[in-house]
Amino acid sequence: MCFKIQKRKEKRKRKKLERQCQLESNSDGNDRKRIRRHVVQSTLRLIIDCSFDDLMILKDIKKLHKQIQRCYAENRRALHPVQFYLTSHGGQLKKNMDENDKGWVNWKDIYIKPEHYSELIKKEDLIYLTSDSPNILKELDESKAYVIGGLVDHNHHKGLTYKQASDYGIDHAQLPLGNFVKMNSRKVLAVNHVFEIILEYLETRNWQEAFFTILPQRKGAVPTDKACESSSHDKQSARVEGGLDSDSSEEDYSRNELDSQHEGEKQDKENSTESTVNSITH
Ligand SMILES: C[S@@+](CC[C@H](N)C(=O)[O-])C[C@H]1O[C@@H](n2cnc3c(N)ncnc32)[C@H](O)[C@@H]1O
Repeated sequence: MCFKIQKRKEKRKRKKLERQCQLESNSDGNDRKRIRRHVVQSTLRLIIDCSFDDLMILKDIKKLHKQIQRCYAENRRALHPVQFYLTSHGGQLKKNMDENDKGWVNWKDIYIKPEHYSELIKKEDLIYLTSDSPNILKELDESKAYVIGGLVDHNHHKGLTYKQASDYGIDHAQLPLGNFVKMNSRKVLAVNHVFEIILEYLETRNWQEAFFTILPQRKGAVPTDKACESSSHDKQSARVEGGLDSDSSEEDYSRNELDSQHEGEKQDKENSTESTVNSITH
């Protein structure tokens, strides 16, 4: 069986088991409250920097909106949710959210701010996540604030966030993809994939597991020995055949739908946005 499918199955099983344990260890109250009681908030701040609004056409703004919905839903159901920030929130993105998902004003456990992240967070706490950084992330420091560029750009603005982070004089780093995924091509991920990898890492403390669980199948993240029989890489590494790009495709959201069907529906139903997210297609 494909290593990646197996990983997803394992993840679903693990989550199911966790939910069962949570339910068994509590006998009063409703299911949602029982589940959330075991949640341990991470102190790590994870920011989606929405200051690139002017660089995107409406179609890409809509994609970004869906990616943000996905991040929100995943953080709400995570065992170690991060301190989630949306900064520089305004412009086309806010307009699209107002028009298509009015419920966002009631979102919980999220800081949605019109200010730029540099006005909200101490400079020395900031680490910009960018695939163009020469620094490779080893660990996550939960006292820091990690920034993800809120940009769907089909790589038209290559190096933009790296340049900005360097200009602002803040730290930057790329995810350690190269250590676990054999790269044939680009390693630029979509916003929600980066976000979900961070959540998964906080849960498992294992980058490899985080990458294989989160990266969609179309990205070609498969074990090298399966992808190329002649490879002598260890089984833990993976090969990316088509390259990793920044578009969350229909397939990604199909996966999201599948995941949601299997593991998401029983959870937090109080927010209409999450059920919207569960049925995303585009
Ligand atoms: C679609 S990418 C945008 C790419 C854009 N050209 C740029 O200059 O960042 C969305 C964001 O995800 C994050 N990201 C994507 N791939 C990453 C990687 N391999 N390591 C760290 N962050 C990554 C970055 O914050 C990036 O801005």
